[in-house]
Amino acid sequence: MLIAGNWKMHGSRGMAADMLEAVNRTLQKASSDAVEVAVFPPATLLSFCKERAQPPLMLGGQDCHSENTGAYTGDVSADMLKEAGASYCLVGHSERRQYHGEHDAQIQGKANAAHEAGLKPLICIGETEAQQAAGQTQAILKKQIQGAVPSAFTPADFVLAYEPVWAIGTGKVATPEQIAETHHFIQQQLPEGATILYGGSVKPDNIAEILALEPVHGVLVGGASLKAESFCKMITLAMEANNRD
Ligand code: PGA
Repeated sequence: MLIAGNWKMHGSRGMAADMLEAVNRTLQKASSDAVEVAVFPPATLLSFCKERAQPPLMLGGQDCHSENTGAYTGDVSADMLKEAGASYCLVGHSERRQYHGEHDAQIQGKANAAHEAGLKPLICIGETEAQQAAGQTQAILKKQIQGAVPSAFTPADFVLAYEPVWAIGTGKVATPEQIAETHHFIQQQLPEGATILYGGSVKPDNIAEILALEPVHGVLVGGASLKAESFCKMITLAMEANNRD
């Protein structure tokens, strides 16, 4: 099980120091080999976080370029993220797709670059509200998986995050039935044993119900990962959910 906190374009050294101290403390109290925790700060805070993150807490980048080096002003490569302390890298987050026009082939290139750099890509997929209303959810997800997940990847090479775009930052959460059905569908499109996370308005008051769904292997959390209290509460609830299994 993986609990991932995506800070997006939030955070400062002060916030990061407080957050990492709180997460380290939570993991020392109730660590479990079966629950991994990773935070995804802005790239400028990775080295700072690396100095503070105590095992088993892991770090990830929020995006990478598909090339290792080059004339790409403003971009960051997977090698650079790795050197700064990352073990994971998000690719294809809906905000990258929406605001930077990223498409599946590009995202696949990023996933390969992350893998080659020794990072585990966390590949995000999800349908928009209009696509869901038009009954296109499964067709869209299938297309995104075929386009963005490198076909040579084994289940150990990546993590997939299903995040309905209409649930991100909106407070609208997919129902347990929707999540279970969609995760089963996604499972059928991936090599057996792949890790599939759910994301979209996950909070302390709904995480237990989501993690109890059999095809859900963790969560990708945005807003609720920015406050140490709610993120640590979610880590504790995930540990408890895992101990009950
Ligand atoms: P949210 O974001 O938890 O704030 O909805 C999730 C994400 O974008 O990964």
